[in-house]
Amino acid sequence: MSTHQTQVVIIGGGPSGLLLSQLLHRTGISSIVLEKHTREHVLGRIRAGVLEHGFVNLMREAGCGARMDREGEIHEGFHIAHQGQLDRVDLAKHTGGDTVMVYGQTEVTRDLYEARDAMGGTVIHEAQNVQPHALRDVHPFVTWEQNGEAQRAECDFIVGADGFHGVSRKSIPSDVLKEYEKVYPFGWLGVLSETPPVAEELIYARHERGFALCSLRSRVLSRYYIQVPLTDRVEDWSDAAFWQELKRRLPEEVAAGLQTGPSIEKSIAPLRSFVAEPMRYGNLFLAGDAAHIVPPTGAKGLNLAASDIHYLYHGFLDHYLKGDSAGLDSYSEQALARVWKAERFSWWMTNLLHRAPEGSETDLRLQRADLDYLFSSDAAQASLVENYVGLPY
Ligand code: FAD
Ligand code: PHB
Repeated sequence: MSTHQTQVVIIGGGPSGLLLSQLLHRTGISSIVLEKHTREHVLGRIRAGVLEHGFVNLMREAGCGARMDREGEIHEGFHIAHQGQLDRVDLAKHTGGDTVMVYGQTEVTRDLYEARDAMGGTVIHEAQNVQPHALRDVHPFVTWEQNGEAQRAECDFIVGADGFHGVSRKSIPSDVLKEYEKVYPFGWLGVLSETPPVAEELIYARHERGFALCSLRSRVLSRYYIQVPLTDRVEDWSDAAFWQELKRRLPEEVAAGLQTGPSIEKSIAPLRSFVAEPMRYGNLFLAGDAAHIVPPTGAKGLNLAASDIHYLYHGFLDHYLKGDSAGLDSYSEQALARVWKAERFSWWMTNLLHRAPEGSETDLRLQRADLDYLFSSDAAQASLVENYVGLPY
């Protein structure tokens, strides 16, 4: 068995884990990142596209903001299509200037990997059977296998940034961990295509046939989604069928301008609200999707991961540089306060824009009233915008 020593072992080499290891390294705190898959696999997942300004600032603080600032697009608004009309939500107007950045999670992760390489950070890929141990001891440790060889890393703290299906949350005893969950009766079918986006800004569409979203990654790369039943499989959807259904859910003038092309990625994501409490057990800290999931409607998942990392990073700084553990001690409480607000917002936006399969006529009228209220009240728009650009950390 090979034994490694470090201060923090981070399980999971997704955006949460990489961002934390990068921030820690820059202040002299050592870490090892253990990732189950290859780098190509991690970079092959097409996920988030909209970054809050808090996330953008954290990338800059980590020294990883240069390409994002060059290639990312600042968006000052988005549109909601409903009942054949297209209403604009003005972000800057309601926030005193805050905006969001459109820059794909794939690019964020690529920039973080490159920064880790440049600093000589330790990111171990294809780590099999990763297992955290002795979580309540002063010296916890993590074991795994690499090419059939047993490995062990001794550390002060373990961070579980290994996503919803990871091992970290499962290592917390069930009588300590409380899980809250809501599974929605539909999913999102997403298509990535090398076509110019249908509009400069995102369009969220509420339609009798179900929700649709027009998003983008750049001026030549578009990302579209449609609500589908949970029983649908990707193989059921040809590209032609996808484009036809998307057009039916968009206002006519938007559909008329839609440029279609072959999909370069197509996948179905289920929609779920999930929170695990507490986010700390002994010397194990959970961060990002390992602790919470939101439905993607509010574009909050990756952004919530970033606020967890912000709290955790500052907790580690105070612990190692000032000998003050108050930040680590209040991590779970602080992170969860923001998590629940983002859960509420994502749940509200999902209900506002999706067609519930079992929904009644009354549900539809309530949804319509919610949208009418939104576009007739500055206060309602200000509340939407405050949440969309991201609540303060
Ligand atoms: P992950 O990205 O899941 O990374 C966890 C890593 O841990 C993975 O690389 C995994 O391979 C690894 N791992 C798992 N198990 C183990 C193990 N046992 N040992 C070692 N490693 C392990 N969020 C937004 O903010 N804005 C958006 O616009 C947005 N859009 C989305 C659209 C879709 C279709 C989807 C599906 C999600 C979207 N999200 C969005 C959510 C966002 O993608 C996630 O919240 C984000 O990926 C969370 O990052 P993470 O690092 O915590 O977890
Ligand atoms: C995306 O571009 O993938 C995206 C954008 C906004 C969302 C969800 C996903 O709300």
